[in-house]
Amino acid sequence: MSKPETLVLKLGGSVLSSEDQLPDLVHEIYRRRRAGYRVVAVASALGGTTESLIARGAAFPAARDESFRAALLATGELASASLLGLALERAGIPAALCTPQQIGLTTSGPTLDADPVALDRAAVEERLDAGQVVVVPGYSGHDRRHGRPTLLGRGGSDLTAVFLAQRLGADCELLKDVDGIFERGPSSGDPGQAFDRLSWADAVDACGPAIQPKALRYARRHRVPLTVSRPGGIASTRIGDAPTRRRVTRPGVRPLRIGLLGLGTVGQGVYRHLTRHPEQFELVGAAVRDLAKPRQHAPDPRDLTVEAWRIVSSDCDVIVELTDGNPDSTSLIEAALREGKSVITANKEISAVRGARYRRLAARHGGRFVCSASVAGAIPALEWARRLASRSVRSIEGVLNGTTNFILGRLEQGASFAEALNAAQTAGFAEADPGADLSGRDAACKIALLAEAAFGESPSLDAIRRDELSATTEVPEGNQRVRFVARAWRRSGRIQAEVVRRVLPATHPLASVEDEDNAVIFELADGTRHALGGKGAGRWPTAESVFADLLQLSRAHQRRSAGRRKEKAS
Ligand code: NDP
Ligand code: HSE
Repeated sequence: MSKPETLVLKLGGSVLSSEDQLPDLVHEIYRRRRAGYRVVAVASALGGTTESLIARGAAFPAARDESFRAALLATGELASASLLGLALERAGIPAALCTPQQIGLTTSGPTLDADPVALDRAAVEERLDAGQVVVVPGYSGHDRRHGRPTLLGRGGSDLTAVFLAQRLGADCELLKDVDGIFERGPSSGDPGQAFDRLSWADAVDACGPAIQPKALRYARRHRVPLTVSRPGGIASTRIGDAPTRRRVTRPGVRPLRIGLLGLGTVGQGVYRHLTRHPEQFELVGAAVRDLAKPRQHAPDPRDLTVEAWRIVSSDCDVIVELTDGNPDSTSLIEAALREGKSVITANKEISAVRGARYRRLAARHGGRFVCSASVAGAIPALEWARRLASRSVRSIEGVLNGTTNFILGRLEQGASFAEALNAAQTAGFAEADPGADLSGRDAACKIALLAEAAFGESPSLDAIRRDELSATTEVPEGNQRVRFVARAWRRSGRIQAEVVRRVLPATHPLASVEDEDNAVIFELADGTRHALGGKGAGRWPTAESVFADLLQLSRAHQRRSAGRRKEKAS
């Protein structure tokens, strides 16, 4: 079977003007992973860094060997790539920093304006195969003869991206702060019309400095089509073999109105993400249980309410349900769906028990019911299950509960059961009632959701055999690891599932899942396996997944609004 497609995503200086923008870039990378891509992210330096490094180097005269200057300037991209890696890790997305040396990106020609000539493709593929986002500092390489540091010329991160895409047989997308290429460039007071498509010949004039000319020439020579887009945007310019086509201008679209239920571990992370995008999202209100509780990320207490019904009956478009699953939650969700609102929830029990009914209800009333964060935090497991369904999935197995896995790790380190559970609760991994984690019920809901997505059906939750984690659970020493493994498979035409305690050899792929991490392995009928990993619980991994649902609804809202206006205009 063919491998998933690879995408080289270049994060330009205009979208990396400061560290504040890193979460947006993480959302962009996560969105591509959710869509099934293996991602290579090429980082430019943070805004102003290269200029400042040039100025510092300018204190010294040009040397015969400019490799020190090259090494100095390359630190800008290395720093931003490292920060991006930290931001990805915080969101629970596995990533690997790959310097030009590590991936054999060698060059020839002048030290400060060299041409890339070789890549150790296997070194990149190995990390992609391990499920990691590969983060490459752009702009630099090393000389093929002497191994000294080199640069690919000003704007050389574009060339890094195009070269990697060509050598990896990947798609190439350049993220900038504009929705593609415009007739006159966005900085001229009137940028003119944008292009949906640009032919190679027209791109040379139209792109100007927006794409490094050397990179554009390389792309044209090697027929590597380029997409230029903006984080969060729905429009882009595709540069390639097709003839040039101008874009029909889309008028502004009002933000999607969001009602938030719950501002706890996950809710605060989602609040933080959505309030950074006022052009895309408007928070109509947030409901909590205790108005006086101190919170790190939250609106002014005067803008909070304890009356969740007020939020549901407001004029919002989407309800984001992130309470601890109190008894009112289901009535609130149903009411919202009946009013034609969309609902996003991270609640496993609700999604597993009522998800199918809610999806039907939503479809009847014109909304959506989505619950990606209900399974495996930052791992886009449900999306992969749906995608692989058409290829006939034989079995699914994984570590799906972060709390129990975290506790097992602490027990191995000598903590008492009470200490380990307390640490999981303090970190925000455990459910309000940790009984759901410890009894295997939480993992049972998740494996049922995955089974439904991959097989089109799932066993009832009560039919899923479960082992529980307790103070008496034995944790072996030596080369073996205990893991709570959730599994679903088809037998005699019926889907079966279990969540069981297994003693695994250290070499088993699930034995190395540590702390609150989760992992999922899909085995297909043709014997191939697809493995995904990442953080399965906690504020930022879960908020990443909820926010990806929000971004998906926002894109649909933008497309619908643009379509309606186009219809009116014609
Ligand atoms: P928390 O307990 O941290 O937060 C729950 C929030 O709901 C609190 O802000 C609480 O208010 C609010 N709340 C409770 N009852 C009501 C009510 N009647 N009306 C209005 N607000 C109410 O939970 P989490 O953030 O950890 O989890 C939220 C959801 O996400 C759960 O369904 C959980 O299973 C799911 N989830 C959690 C993950 C995690 O790692 N934590 C991972 C994946 C999914 P107040 O703050 O005032 O008490
Ligand atoms: N309590 C859950 C866990 C949260 O520990 O996995 C993520 O669903």
